[in-house]
Order: sequence, then C-alpha cells, then structure tokens
Amino acid sequence: MDGVTETWTEPSSTGAALLLLGRGTDPSAERGVECPGELPAPSDPTLVERAARAKAALGDRLFILGHHYQRDEVIQFADVTGDSFKLAREAAARPDAEFIVFCGVHFMAESADILTSDAQKVVLPDLAAGCSMADMAVLSQVETAWELLEDAGVADSTVPITYMNSSADIKGFVGRHHGVVCTSSNAKRALTWAFERGQRVLFLPDQHLGRNTAILEMGIDADDCLLYDPHKPGGGLTAQQLGQAKMLLWRGHCSVHGRFTKSSVDEIRLRVPDVNVLVHPECRFDVVTAADYVGSTEYIIKIIDAAPAGSAWAVGTELNLVRRLANAHPDKQIMFLERNVCYCSTMNRIDLPHLVWTLEELAAGRLVNQITVDADTAHHARVALDQMLALP
Ligand code: 13P
Ligand code: SF4
Repeated sequence: MDGVTETWTEPSSTGAALLLLGRGTDPSAERGVECPGELPAPSDPTLVERAARAKAALGDRLFILGHHYQRDEVIQFADVTGDSFKLAREAAARPDAEFIVFCGVHFMAESADILTSDAQKVVLPDLAAGCSMADMAVLSQVETAWELLEDAGVADSTVPITYMNSSADIKGFVGRHHGVVCTSSNAKRALTWAFERGQRVLFLPDQHLGRNTAILEMGIDADDCLLYDPHKPGGGLTAQQLGQAKMLLWRGHCSVHGRFTKSSVDEIRLRVPDVNVLVHPECRFDVVTAADYVGSTEYIIKIIDAAPAGSAWAVGTELNLVRRLANAHPDKQIMFLERNVCYCSTMNRIDLPHLVWTLEELAAGRLVNQITVDADTAHHARVALDQMLALP
C-alpha cells in the first residue's frame, strides 16, 4: 500500500488559484468573461447557508443540474448529477422548471437551452466555463471541410457526427446535414446509426472518442480512420483519401484526458499488481487499449460502485470525480491514474461563490448569465440532439 494511496495537494492560495475560483480572467489562456456581479468572498463562512436559503426560496421554479466534474461544494446543491447524456435527458424532462441552473460547461448549458421550452431560462453560473475541446471546431472550419467533401464528390455519402462537447452552431450544422450528436455513453450507437445511412463519418471534434469507438467497438480498421486537421490546407488529406476513409477524425482533443499516458498505466500496474485501470474514452488510443474498463463518467461511477471491497482502481478522468469516488468508497483503493493533479479548469470555474451569486440574483428576480441559442441554430441543433435521444 505504501506509495500507492498518495494524496494530492490543493492549489495554493496564489493569483492563479484565485483565477481558478473565478475572481478574474486571463484572456491569453481562455475566453475570459468577467462576472457581471459582486461575487461573495470564497472565505465567507455563510456561503452554504446562503445557497440553501436562495434555493429554498426558489423552490420548484429552480432545477439544478450538476456534471460529475463539478466541485463537491457545488455538487451538494445539484438536484441531479450525471454525465452529459443523462443531464441532457434530465433537462429535457423538466418542462415545469422556470430556471435550469447548469453546473457544468457552456456547451452543456447550450444543449439544455435547445432541449427546453422558450419559457424556461438556462443559467450558467460562470460564463467563462467553456471547454477547450469544443473550441477546437469552429463552424467556418467545419463548413470548409464539408466543401472539400463536396468537391471530392463524397459529401452525400458522409454522415457528420458531433460529440456533445461542441458549440450549438456545430450541432446545428450536423442537424442540417442529417447527422447526429453523440456523447461518450452512446458513441457506438451513433456510429452504428450513421453507417446504416452512409459510407463514412465525419467525427467532430474529439479524435480520440471517434478513433476509440470506431476501432475498438465497431471493428473498423485503423487504416480507414484518417485525421482531418483544420489547420492544414485540405485538412492535410487528398480528395482520394477523403473518399476512401471510413472515419474522418477531426483533430481535436481534451486537454485534461490528453494528460494520461500509456506509461502512467504501465507504472501503476508495476506499483499495484492487482490494479484495475478505468478510463474515459477521451483518453488516447494507447491508453484506452491498455486499460481494463472504458466509459463515460456515469459508467465510471457505476463500475466503482459495483466493485468489491478491497479492490484497487486507477481512474483516468477529471480529479474532482476521482476524489469524490475515493471519499465515497473508503473500503476500496481508488487512485488518480496520473501522478500530477489534473482538474478541468473550466469545469472548476463554477464554484460556490458563483452559485450563491446566481441563486440569490434569481431569487431577487434578476435573471443573470442566461445561455440562449438563436432560433435557427437551435432548430437544427435540436434535430441532431433529438436524433441522439432517439438512437436505438
Ligand atoms: P461525460 O459525458 O462522460 O460526462 O463526459 C463529458 C466530458 O466533458 C468529459 O470530459
Ligand atoms: Fe472539455 Fe475536457 Fe473539461 Fe470535458 S474535461 S469539459 S472535454 S476540457
């Protein structure tokens, strides 16, 4: 056991840590958006009480969704927690809630807005909670890729799939072109659906989820999966390659899951011989193939819940979730797969001060940080999202 259940150190109280708490912006690092209100101090000892009071005052008018990567201080106020698929379904299933407060990231709140009625307001407690992967596919780049497919005469036989982690306008593009949205819990079903309708898939924006699912779950040959790089002329591919590929994988990735390496898997297996390695499918192909279990955040939780006491687990996903699992299962040995601390910095921007501020503003009758998607984009994105929700 020695050296195995190593603890991690919280970020110290530096300027950078304060930035993580959302008390400022760093435009050079991410799309910073100043909080438009007066945030309570993180040290305010009454924050929990204030959040509870504002939540109680809003009653049934409010529904709080919490993604599994959220901090404990936030997750304690969520009415439901889940992976992106479950949260999309939950948002769609709450027609009576006037306010959906989404404790997650921007693309999730956009999807909730698309799936809810015009009368419902979706609110993101910190507008700077984006997703670096979602930012790796921009609509104009995707339109260029589609034009290349048209020029190669293969657009009609191509089905676009976008991972949930994409902007609403990319989802709208996919809806317009008869494609589907997927999440990490239904990517195989989405690919099966797509290959019943076309000969190839343009998979946006996570190359790893696309490759892992195509090769490991669909049995597609690695040589039939080609990387499309939006920063290279022609995507870095010839017209012939575009036509021959079965999977065109957009060159995007998650900066958090990209940190896990095959050597971290090898190292943990040496240190803990009976360890089970459980990773998210946003990890690289060699990490996923070296792991014992692969799945969405919801899947990861279910596997750990069902694991026998005394079993050892190295988990390759965001740290807030791994730490919560370790705390919830003291009878199991649960470790972070990577030695270094690895939060999703944008998920982490939603903290208790932002939640308190949001709830108190709503309770005072002031709608803040509303996420809205324009009607035309929302219409087409909804087609692709509804198609996902209807996947067999
Ligand atoms: P899940 O759908 O598995 O919750 O993943 C969302 C996400 O952003 C993972 O990085
Ligand atoms: Fe985006 Fe990765 Fe954070 Fe998920 S963990 S929200 S994919 S940056």
